[in-house]
Amino acid sequence: MALHWLVHVFLWCLSLATISSSSSASSSSMKCQRRCGKIKIPFPFGMGDPNCFRNEWFNVTCDESVTPPKALLANNDLLEEDFEVLDISLEGHLTTKKEIIHDCRSKSYNDTDIIETPISFYGSPYSFSNTRNKFTAVGCNTLAYMTGYTPTAGLIFRVGCISNCFGIRRVMNGSCTGIGCCQSSIPPGIIGFQLGINSLSSDANRSRLGPCSYAFLVDQDFNLNFSVFNLSKTSFLDRNKQVPVVLDWVASQNEICEAAIKNKTDYACLSENSHCNDSINGIGYLCSCSPGYSGNPYIHEGCKDIDECKNKTSHNCNQVCVNMPGSYHCKCQKGYHGDGWNNGTRCTADAKELPVLKVILGTGLSLLFLLIASTWMYWLWRKRRSMKLKEKFFQQNGGLVLQQKINTRRSDTFKIFTIEELKRATKNYCASKIVGQGGFGIVYKGVLPNKKVVAIKKSKLVDASQIDQFINELDILSQVNHRNVVKLLGCCLEDQVPILVYEFISNGTLYHHIHEAGHLPSISLENRLRIATEIAEALAYLHFAASMPIFHRDIKSANILLDNNFTVKVADFGVSRLVPIDHTQITTLVQGTWGYLDPECFQTGKLTDKSDVYSFGVVLLELLTGEKAVCLNRSHEDRNLAMYFVRKMKENRLFQMLEERVRSEASVEQLMAIAQLTLRCLKLNGEKRPTMKEVVVDLQGLRGFQNHHSVHDQESEKLLCETSQGCKEDAGGQYSVSGHFDISLTLSR
Ligand SMILES: *[C@@H]1O[C@H](CO)[C@@H](O)[C@H](O)[C@H]1NC(C)=O
Ligand SMILES: *[C@@H]1O[C@H](CO)[C@@H](O)[C@H](O)[C@H]1NC(C)=O
Ligand SMILES: *[C@@H]1O[C@H](CO)[C@@H](O)[C@H](O)[C@H]1NC(C)=O
Ligand SMILES: *[C@@H]1O[C@H](CO)[C@@H](O)[C@H](O)[C@H]1NC(C)=O
Ligand SMILES: *[C@@H]1O[C@H](CO)[C@@H](O)[C@H](O)[C@H]1NC(C)=O
Ligand SMILES: *[C@@H]1O[C@H](CO)[C@@H](O)[C@H](O)[C@H]1NC(C)=O
Ligand SMILES: *[C@@H]1O[C@H](CO)[C@@H](O)[C@H](O)[C@H]1NC(C)=O
Ligand SMILES: *[C@@H]1O[C@H](CO)[C@@H](O)[C@H](O)[C@H]1NC(C)=O
Ligand SMILES: *[C@@H]1O[C@H](CO)[C@@H](O)[C@H](O)[C@H]1NC(C)=O
Ligand SMILES: *[C@@H]1O[C@H](CO)[C@@H](O)[C@H](O)[C@H]1NC(C)=O
Repeated sequence: MALHWLVHVFLWCLSLATISSSSSASSSSMKCQRRCGKIKIPFPFGMGDPNCFRNEWFNVTCDESVTPPKALLANNDLLEEDFEVLDISLEGHLTTKKEIIHDCRSKSYNDTDIIETPISFYGSPYSFSNTRNKFTAVGCNTLAYMTGYTPTAGLIFRVGCISNCFGIRRVMNGSCTGIGCCQSSIPPGIIGFQLGINSLSSDANRSRLGPCSYAFLVDQDFNLNFSVFNLSKTSFLDRNKQVPVVLDWVASQNEICEAAIKNKTDYACLSENSHCNDSINGIGYLCSCSPGYSGNPYIHEGCKDIDECKNKTSHNCNQVCVNMPGSYHCKCQKGYHGDGWNNGTRCTADAKELPVLKVILGTGLSLLFLLIASTWMYWLWRKRRSMKLKEKFFQQNGGLVLQQKINTRRSDTFKIFTIEELKRATKNYCASKIVGQGGFGIVYKGVLPNKKVVAIKKSKLVDASQIDQFINELDILSQVNHRNVVKLLGCCLEDQVPILVYEFISNGTLYHHIHEAGHLPSISLENRLRIATEIAEALAYLHFAASMPIFHRDIKSANILLDNNFTVKVADFGVSRLVPIDHTQITTLVQGTWGYLDPECFQTGKLTDKSDVYSFGVVLLELLTGEKAVCLNRSHEDRNLAMYFVRKMKENRLFQMLEERVRSEASVEQLMAIAQLTLRCLKLNGEKRPTMKEVVVDLQGLRGFQNHHSVHDQESEKLLCETSQGCKEDAGGQYSVSGHFDISLTLSR
């Protein structure tokens, strides 16, 4: 058997003449017939005119005598037989038909194989496609094989398969599964082959299953439509005498691309945008269009640009596809952004969001602007209103007059503060800054920007009719400059009520030191006299040295402040008249300064400098006795310290009254002198009281010498008690007292 087919191979080797692909085909002519029936015949294939096909290997004849017309590869003695052309593809395939071989021998066992006549494409551009064909055998207990030759591998090979039917029921219908039918792949580059077939089983069993076995090479896509019934009949053979086989063809069977490109005269890839592709199936090459082009690469301008954009499935664009020669690119529509590729960033709409965003942004901005503008307008209005108000208050409070006065005097110690300055100084009138409170208003401790500590007094509402007077007083007070008088540093007239700024005295009131601190016994007589002297000096200054006589009107220990060195500072100025006269004042009067008030003035309602002298006398008594001006603990007639003292003096029992330390430190003469001075100050008749000047002189004398008291006393009494000013000179003619912190004061004109 082996020898047998080897002989056959040898035969085709000899028999195949060397075929030269002679005619150098020119390009395809438009006149060429390109169809045979339904079959397209593209160049390099062609019919008729030699210019219509590349060379005689591609000469196709169309037999139109039969219907449908048959296309045949013209053999021209080149090929052993005519091959019917069923289909030509420019990818290098040509579908033709080939007979199947069969063994339907019904005799008992016959060892001899049935061998097909060999077929060969040696020297031609054709070979049997290994990718498209399958060697197939049909039958039960069939052995079939294919002996072939491939010049690239340079070898003879044999492939085959055995088909068996163990149980006919398992024969698969329609497809070849190995039961009743078997298939085998074939190697590439086969240019010729021969088929053999034989039976493996006895005739008896064979006849039961079917008389025939078949073997053939077939297009793998061919529907065999194989069924078990076909085995027992010969109809399979009848229907499929020929089966389609796919041939591979190359443009030139003995050249590879490298060489072909150099041979301009015979190069097959004539189209622009085409290129040469070496055959994988043996020597030879094919032409193909470059990527992005399609068409026939074997003719001029055969490769046409593929308009990828025409076919939605052939491009990968998200929105807009733009075709370009050989390729395409993607874009996004207006109002979209992105690279436009489905595999890239695609297209994202930006147009729709933008107006919304713009509207939102615009509205937001304009609202914001409106808000800011209205806030600013409101603020401006408030500021203007507040400015106007301030101005109004300033004018109402006589600010202009005061300003003029201050300007003309060019005082640099008195300042007109703005409302903001004072707000800052008191931390917006913080409650923790309050150091005193009463019928007159509130006193705050404040710190000015220059670190200076001040007392800021905010009055209660004032009577507008008294503004002029208030301003005058302020003007005069601002000029008061005595070491024992609390200094008025400035004022603020921008608020509804005038605000006064004083220097801050840190060590409390004399009242506190005498009655509350509990350290009165530690204060020496000398110191007490000094304090008394300083008070007297301050009052004398106010009465006589100031540009206009100033009556304090409310001298009391609570209005005498002491600084850290126990230096006297007579406090509180100028607003007594401005304190509205209401019922609270009466109470304050009774509670606060009862006991200090000049009884004459209280009765007549006229105030003189002597009223201050009386009050001073009471303060002096406090210093000497340590008793309060009014003390409810004492018997009824003695509640008033001044009256109590006068009575004791009459009874000659002064010593009982005096405070321990005073008694121990003072000589009898000294004590008597002090007592006499006090007594004179407390005279019911104001005119009999000494002036403050005289008091000062007396006190200074007392402090210095104990000796010439008697002479001095009488002299000074004569001297001092003569000069006096009547209450009638008091312009105001009113008395007025304010609360604990307040010191009433009036200006006498
Ligand atoms: C093509 O084949 C036909 C038929 O075999 C033949 O008559 C004709 O001469 C051939 N053409 C050429 C150019 O060889
Ligand atoms: C076996 O087959 C061969 C070839 O077909 C034939 O020549 C031969 O006569 C057959 N032998 C018998 C015994 O039938
Ligand atoms: C094959 O086809 C025949 C007729 O069409 C059917 O009777 C049989 O059952 C089928 N066999 C299989 C295995 O499908
Ligand atoms: C034929 O088939 C029968 C059973 O189906 C089997 O017993 C016999 O051995 C077979 N004959 C041959 C030659 O295979
Ligand atoms: C295959 O066979 C079925 C019936 O078995 C038939 O209807 C069908 O047309 C056949 N197909 C082909 C391609 O022959
Ligand atoms: C197989 O047998 C069935 C039934 O006899 C028939 O219709 C069909 O055409 C046959 N197929 C072939 C390929 O012969
Ligand atoms: C080009 O091809 C032709 C025809 O196949 C051949 O005769 C010629 O020798 C080739 N020329 C070269 C340079 O290979
Ligand atoms: C070359 O041909 C092979 C097989 O025919 C194919 O797979 C390949 O894509 C082709 N190359 C080009 C660039 O066309
Ligand atoms: C579109 O292209 C796809 C593949 O790219 C192809 O399968 C389909 O047939 C084409 N459709 C048309 C109408 O050209
Ligand atoms: C998307 O695919 C195309 C081919 O279909 C390719 O040319 C392009 O580079 C790809 N883009 C990205 C971003 O991967």
